Amino acid sequence: MQDRIKLGANRTGIASSPMHSEAMLDGLSLQDGSPQPAIGAAELRASYRVDAEPVGSMPPPNTLRGVVGAVGESLKGKRMHILLDKLGERAAYERSGARLYDAFLQRLSAGVDAALPGDMSLELVQTIRNDEVAHFTLLVEAIEKLGGDPTVQTPCADMTAVTGMGLIQAMNEPRATLAQGLQVLMAAELIDVASWELLIALATQLDQAELADRFTAALNAENVHLERVRGWLQGALQNDVALLAPSDGDGE
Ligand SMILES: [Fe+2]
Repeated sequence: MQDRIKLGANRTGIASSPMHSEAMLDGLSLQDGSPQPAIGAAELRASYRVDAEPVGSMPPPNTLRGVVGAVGESLKGKRMHILLDKLGERAAYERSGARLYDAFLQRLSAGVDAALPGDMSLELVQTIRNDEVAHFTLLVEAIEKLGGDPTVQTPCADMTAVTGMGLIQAMNEPRATLAQGLQVLMAAELIDVASWELLIALATQLDQAELADRFTAALNAENVHLERVRGWLQGALQNDVALLAPSDGDGE
């Protein structure tokens, strides 16, 4: 675990070796007329799309008492499946959000960071983590209210799990700095905010005013998360700059 980025022997850039980079650029012309595969990556992907099955499906409603249950086979019921799919996605994302914060809290508890930015504290981070769990619970209730099964991995939940893999991987990177961890959280929170906005619009369109109200409360909390994490990230970067002693500077 690192407290901040340091100067080192990074040779990934072209400027680290002008002689070799010149030779590499000279070699670019050799690629002209070089043998190409019979089918390119774009064509290959296009051919997969033609034959592709959907990413999963939505199950039929599991109760006749729910809104969907009563009208499960009607047009309204089919429209409701779109909302249930997105609710399943949001539930999956909020659950992984709590795990992201758990990993971040583990980092903070290890005490390796020289200074925490601004008003950042374990307690405040824990508050955000608890909000993510509360949002997950809210989504479970919403899915049940609509006659759905909250344990289903919906197609959009499947897709969002794949999307979130990079975030989880980056957050659990043992070499990550505090600022890098906060950058991961900011990415997650930006998706949280935009996704709750979409859910509110969808619930409203489907005459679910009570759910839309509850989702608006969640959106308000997410906006607070985003502002806090963005502020902490800014503070962490400013701390990194301020903590650099003159001897760490250009002379190294
Ligand atoms: Fe959040």
